[in-house]
Amino acid sequence: MKITNKINLITTAWIICVLIVVNIAVFYSFLKVTVNVEEKVVLQNADAILEDINNGDSNEVIKGKLTKYLTNGSFIRIIEPGSKIMNQVTHNQQISSKIKGEFVTKTKSKRYLVRTAQGEEQMLVVRIPIESNGQVIKTLEIGERLVGLELGKDVLLSILIACTILGALLSLIGGKWLANILIRPVSNMIDTMEEIEQSGITKHMVIEGQPKDELQKMAVTFNRMMDRLDNNIEKQQQFISDASHELKTPITVIKSYADFLRRHGIQNKEVALDAVDVIHSEATRIQLMTEKFLDLANTELENVLEKTTIDLIAFNKDIVKQIQRAYKREIDLHYSDESLTVIADELKLKQVMIILLDNAIKYSKEKIDIYLENQENATVIRVKDYGIGIPESEINNIFERFYRIDKARSRETGGTGLGLAIAKQIMKQHEGEIKVKSVENVGTEVELFLPN
Ligand SMILES: Nc1ncnc2c1ncn2[C@@H]1O[C@H](COP(=O)(O)OP(=O)(O)OP(=O)(O)O)[C@@H](O)[C@H]1O
Ligand SMILES: [Mg+2]
Repeated sequence: MKITNKINLITTAWIICVLIVVNIAVFYSFLKVTVNVEEKVVLQNADAILEDINNGDSNEVIKGKLTKYLTNGSFIRIIEPGSKIMNQVTHNQQISSKIKGEFVTKTKSKRYLVRTAQGEEQMLVVRIPIESNGQVIKTLEIGERLVGLELGKDVLLSILIACTILGALLSLIGGKWLANILIRPVSNMIDTMEEIEQSGITKHMVIEGQPKDELQKMAVTFNRMMDRLDNNIEKQQQFISDASHELKTPITVIKSYADFLRRHGIQNKEVALDAVDVIHSEATRIQLMTEKFLDLANTELENVLEKTTIDLIAFNKDIVKQIQRAYKREIDLHYSDESLTVIADELKLKQVMIILLDNAIKYSKEKIDIYLENQENATVIRVKDYGIGIPESEINNIFERFYRIDKARSRETGGTGLGLAIAKQIMKQHEGEIKVKSVENVGTEVELFLPN
């Protein structure tokens, strides 16, 4: 079922319930008010009767006096203890015969529904005790037909039923209109999504003015999602074009050397071996490059970090040990704090450290220093080398993908220009920072800031 129909049906059902409850309340209030008004009149009548009747009056005299007060459809009785009717005057024998007399010691009134040959009739019977010397000796019982109630009740009932039906109809019509207004942004969103699905091109929703309600906020979130998607698609395309551009050079080199070997065979063994060497080194470069491509693609697309608390000193000692074993280079770890911990993704942080140490090893020959330090808002790791350094004008470029300062120099060291781009991405994921200070031919210091 469409959501608009659902909203419509639920609101209509609710409105019908409310109308029924209100109408019942109105109906019973009407009954009560009408009966109260009638009761007051009857009580005034009773006062007059009681004043009129004297203790010594004979039955005939009393009857005569009571008849004076008789109205159309009413009866007046005097009841003795034991609920025996002493005197009765009536205009409607049928009704009075159906209502039994009752002796009371306190004023009481009761509504009766009497079935007669003419139909149902509403009667109000008021019973007033008659006292003599502080003792109740008789009861004056006055039965009055509630004509106003009989007529009004049916009219009111018809009006209330008509109002309920009208209310339900209005709610159905208005509900559909309201539901359509409310659901319009959702319908627009569905249309936009369908368009995106069919065309494969991201699209934004039109939002008029400041977002005020939840649905408009949903549209804003949708647009933000589209922006991110656009951004990711753009990154992916950029990555593919960068990657294929970078792969083109080594592949061309490999192809041209392979062509050379095919054409000239291995007549000159020395030249042939040179060619094979170049092919091997370029193929290795492609291999390294593809591994890094995957790394970068993963860090750019995967935003989930598996954060744990890392003991930074032990963590660095481990890395230093591994690198020293592989490269036989002196790496010194400096720290003054007793313990240093950070909350980070251990594997990714290790990847950053290896990228920095790999650079320090490649671009310097002296020892390498690592400093660990706790600052006010962040924990800092510094990797410092005393190598060739980076020209000042290049410092801002080295974080770009595939950027190498001097291609010839980097070729020699086998870089792809992706290391620092990956490191920057990982630091960004950690809401941290990476900064480089360098002086050409003096050395380079890379600082990692991990927020506390
Ligand atoms: N410690 C350093 N000393 C001197 N130059 C550096 C240092 N670190 C980076 N660079 C320069 O910045 C460039 C970019 O570094 P990056 O680590 O991104 O790439 P790479 O080392 O060339 O290749 P990859 O790390 O992908 O194998 C390097 O080519 C190098 O010229
Ligand atoms: Mg590198």
